[in-house]
Amino acid sequence: MISTKIGQLINEQITKEQYAAQYYLSMSAWFSAKDLDGIANYFRVQSKEELMHADKMFDYLNDVGAEIIIGEIAKPPHEFADAKDIFEKALAHEKIVTQSIFNILKNANDEGDFATVSFLQWFVTEQVEEEANASQLVTKIKMVCDNPSALYLFDQELSQRVFNPVPAK
Ligand code: FEO
Repeated sequence: MISTKIGQLINEQITKEQYAAQYYLSMSAWFSAKDLDGIANYFRVQSKEELMHADKMFDYLNDVGAEIIIGEIAKPPHEFADAKDIFEKALAHEKIVTQSIFNILKNANDEGDFATVSFLQWFVTEQVEEEANASQLVTKIKMVCDNPSALYLFDQELSQRVFNPVPAK
């Protein structure tokens, strides 16, 4: 049902989502080591969301009978300059993921692969939300990073985030 090229792009995107999960887990570990457990929780939840994104793509490839080839996941960075650096890197990474999804969408559209175009709509909406959230957090961390009391409250705020799995289909 889908071309070899689209299948390959989605297989690669699965690996990218899994890399993002590892990247955010590494960020979570950095904050845990600083006893900022609320921010660590935020990135831990983000990591789980990325695995959920990979699962959705895995299920789609199964549904359309495409071959699934699990890729190699690179080791993410584990050293960061400071909290602001991490939030800026998270935003930058979301922008990369967005462009990668747009690339699959463009290829699917060019091929007249409307099943994949439809499938990817969920991710387009998700990326708008993820970039908006990441951008807002960059703004907030810049406000609080030099003020321990404000940072404490920010950490408390991010401790409230919970993982809400969405149905794979
Ligand atoms: Fe799966 Fe954060 O994009």
